[in-house]
Parts: sequence; C-alpha cells; structure tokens
Amino acid sequence: MYQLAPSILAADFNCLGKQISQIEQAGVEWLHIDVMDGRFVPTISFGMPVVKSIRKNTSLFFDVHLMVEEPDQFIDMFKACGAGQLTIHAEACRHLDRTLHAIRNAGMRVGVALNPSTPLSTLEYILDLADMVLLMTVNPGYGGQTYIPYCTEKIRSLRKMILDRGLQVDIQVDGGINEKTIAAVLDAGANIIVAGSAVFDGDIPANVKKLCDIMGEYDK
Ligand code: DX5
Ligand code: ZN
Repeated sequence: MYQLAPSILAADFNCLGKQISQIEQAGVEWLHIDVMDGRFVPTISFGMPVVKSIRKNTSLFFDVHLMVEEPDQFIDMFKACGAGQLTIHAEACRHLDRTLHAIRNAGMRVGVALNPSTPLSTLEYILDLADMVLLMTVNPGYGGQTYIPYCTEKIRSLRKMILDRGLQVDIQVDGGINEKTIAAVLDAGANIIVAGSAVFDGDIPANVKKLCDIMGEYDK
C-alpha cells in the first residue's frame, strides 16, 4: 500500500474545508493531522475541536500525529473525533508498550514515531505491536523544513528490519518531502508519504498529481 498523506499544518486555515475537498477530489485517501502541545515540540498547532469539525466534511482516513507529552490521556478523545490511526512519539511515552496497546484497544491503527536522532533499537521489542512506524525526517515542530539526509539510511535499515522479521509494517516519512526528495525515501522503502508545503503551497491538485505520479512508479 502506498499513500500520500497531505499534512494540513501547511493548509490555509481560512479555507481548510475547501482545501481538504480539493485534495480529496484529487484522489488522496489519507489526511495527516499534526497535533502539537508546545511541550514535546516548541509550538502549538490545533486540537480536538478542529479534528472533530473537519470530520463532518470528508471521508478521508484521519492519520493523527500526536507531538505531545504523555499522549495516553488523549487516546479516547481522538478516537471520538474520528481518528483512524493514532501515532505517538516513542520519546514522549514512559510506558510505550502500554500506550501502543491502548491505541489498539481503542480501535485505531497503531503508529509509533521516532525523531531523527532516536535509534531504531527503540523498536526492538515493540515493532510487531505497530501498524506503522513514522520516521521523522526533520526535527518535529514546524512545516517547511529541509529533509535531513542521514534519514535515508535509517529508512533503509528499518525496511530491512521489518522484512527480516516477516512483518508488514508501513513506513511513513514526515518532513521536507517534496518532488526532489520523494524518490530517495521511496527507494529506501518508505510507503506512506507525508507532505505539507509540497501539497498546499501553490496549485494543490497539480501538486498532488506530481507526487502521486512519482509514487505510482513504485506502487506496482
Ligand atoms: C512537522 C510535522 C509535519 C509537517 C511537514 O513537525 O510533523 O507533518 O507538517 O511539513 P513539510 O512537508 O512542509 O516539511
Ligand atoms: Zn506530522
């Protein structure tokens, strides 16, 4: 499965609903929703009321990326807001195993995210509890940053780790992905691509088409 997951962090919030309809009409199936608490990351984005309100207007799959400390307290709330997958940061969880089980038990797909500097060994014992690993390819907190080149090798190593174990875990990449960087992450084994500015800056349908055409070469 290959998916483009546009990040609404880069959208124009004056016309969020309209822009979400545009990406949906362009054939996108996933929507990446970045929730930031001003503690785990230096900034605050938006929370439940926004997620709940856009849920009414779209049938896109809600891929919620929680950049918050102690995410356990929010699991049921995001389920109630319409999240289909909840991704938490390994660095933000004191009891990662428990948190991943709690997301599963709440009835959502389970995602675990790692910052660029966090080693893959963090996943050693819990990889099979996740449906998806999100590898941050910038330091989380802001859209529009530059892809960190050493992440390409990390994606490759994670894909090998998943294959060696006979698992079917998705690899999502997030940060600095655009027309120029997307081929390297796909080559390395990523299959769910988050893109913020590369989708929402400029002509949205044309941007989606450009990225999806490149992904189509891999989805065979
Ligand atoms: C960064 C967020 C990303 C961000 C990506 O902390 O997790 O999802 O929106 O933005 P771009 O694609 O512009 O780097
Ligand atoms: Zn994100």
